[in-house]
Amino acid sequence: MKPLLADIRGYLKYLELMGVEGLPFDDGATAGFKDDEPEDSAALTLQDVRKEIGDCTRCKLCKGRTNIVFGAGSPKAGLVFVGEGPGRDEDIKGLPFVGAAGAMLTRIIERVLNLTRDDVYIANIVKCRPPNNRNPEPDEIFACMPFLEKQLEVIKPALIVALGNVAAKSLIGTKTGITALRGRFHYYSGGIKIMPTYHPAFLLRNPAKKRETYEDMLMVKAELEAIVKDADSTSPPEPWTP
Ligand code: URA
Repeated sequence: MKPLLADIRGYLKYLELMGVEGLPFDDGATAGFKDDEPEDSAALTLQDVRKEIGDCTRCKLCKGRTNIVFGAGSPKAGLVFVGEGPGRDEDIKGLPFVGAAGAMLTRIIERVLNLTRDDVYIANIVKCRPPNNRNPEPDEIFACMPFLEKQLEVIKPALIVALGNVAAKSLIGTKTGITALRGRFHYYSGGIKIMPTYHPAFLLRNPAKKRETYEDMLMVKAELEAIVKDADSTSPPEPWTP
């Protein structure tokens, strides 16, 4: 060790032995040091992702859209729902799941998970409405996926729910259909657990399938509760006051 560093180290050790717990740097003395910057100053934000999308013309869906439907909810959500793509109502309002299927999704979030739409984040595989509500095509998914991936990178949810075939297949990277995929957790990149379930619009047409989605959501709820419990048990104990 260089003599100066050894001196500083020795002096700090001496202060520590004397019971000194910190050094009286003021803002001026520490200005410019990296530790002084806000922790997330360099981190990507959802606003950055939205800015990067701009007035997108990366695929043919741009021709028929009214609004880009970026996503909505908490940027710190532990749970993210991913649908297929905006429908008519979403295209008009620029918000995901605000039509009839959205009302069904809201009921699932509130009545089964005991959460609100503001507690979670809701997005889609493609951000512009496919004509006549057809499924998004592979080139459209390919063009749009990087932005959903970035949104998930920013939010870092504990869990993802994939709503329907298009979302489940695109996020899990499989050709297996939703009926075979649902009912158990799979993994999205980075090890995030993902539960595929039926799309709310499908449930509106097939109410008998609601039972299966209910069961999937109970698994999601249990998993979220286990994650919260785990975090509580590993967090440092509260300061003890006699
Ligand atoms: N269906 C979807 O997949 N997404 C929406 O935002 C609305 C309906």
